[in-house]
Amino acid sequence: MEQSDTIERSLVIGASGQIGTELILKLGELHGAENVVAADIRPPASEELSNFTYEHLNILNDEQLKEVIARHNITTVYLLAAMLSATAEQQPERAWDLNMVGLFNVLNLAKDKVIKKVFWPSSIAVFGPSTPSENTPQTTVCEPNTVYGISKLAGERWCEYYHANYGVDVRSIRYPGLIGYKSAPGGGTTDYAVDIYYKALEEKPFTCFLNEDTRLPMMLMEDAIQATIQLMTSPAEKLSVRSSYNISGMDFTPKEIAASIQNHIPSFAIDYAPDFRQKIADSWPSSIDDRVANKDWGWKASYDLDRLTEVMLQEVAKKKMKLETL
Ligand code: SER
Repeated sequence: MEQSDTIERSLVIGASGQIGTELILKLGELHGAENVVAADIRPPASEELSNFTYEHLNILNDEQLKEVIARHNITTVYLLAAMLSATAEQQPERAWDLNMVGLFNVLNLAKDKVIKKVFWPSSIAVFGPSTPSENTPQTTVCEPNTVYGISKLAGERWCEYYHANYGVDVRSIRYPGLIGYKSAPGGGTTDYAVDIYYKALEEKPFTCFLNEDTRLPMMLMEDAIQATIQLMTSPAEKLSVRSSYNISGMDFTPKEIAASIQNHIPSFAIDYAPDFRQKIADSWPSSIDDRVANKDWGWKASYDLDRLTEVMLQEVAKKKMKLETL
């Protein structure tokens, strides 16, 4: 296959994950499915992924990564494979390995000019208990006290370092809690805000693992994908941040999301049984200042809590109906 300078060929690593499942569809729309390759250590998570070439890939295997990139003439890598906050607390060293070694493997390929561009997601988890928690600024105290947060902060520093010292075009976003209906999240502290919609539609009470007034920054997946594409298509000279950009969508507490569901399903009941994830959530900001992303590449979220609830209830209901008719 001939490599053209103008054609962007992307590899999405973690294509069966929460972000990957949706991002790959958008990249397929923009560049053509033939120019986007899916990779994951797991089998394809959805039928829609069958339009894409699928590679079984372990990101810790550098040789395999190189081989896949060469075989498909990849120019851009989206490295989405990671262990999220709650799971990482249970397996600290494995999480560090998975979250860091994969990043080095990809950054080194960009340093060696094998690929041109890298996207790597960071998180609000880079912040910690000593960070100002309301309207957390782009540049502020970052003393994370979770395994996941430590790995994301280290990753951000390496991204900036590779950009400054080796000219690597790496771009990153500090995602808030992401809420989508296409694939299930796994092992995150913000996942309750996805599960709650499934329980509400099953007409079952929901037991939340965070207490009722834990306020966290959140975002509908549509907005997160939009932000990712906007950042990746911005001219390099506009980007003043090469660690990772703050972006904000909405923020709410479990009590507020429950109330927004009760506007549609008045009988919906919630109770609270905080577990070890409460401590993780308590260390994170309650809202995010994203003015730098707005200034540099025009970021602005479209969805608030009411619209999020409308979309989630509608789409999860459709998904359930489809499953029931199979
Ligand atoms: N959603 C992630 C988590 O809860 C935060 O980046 O781990």
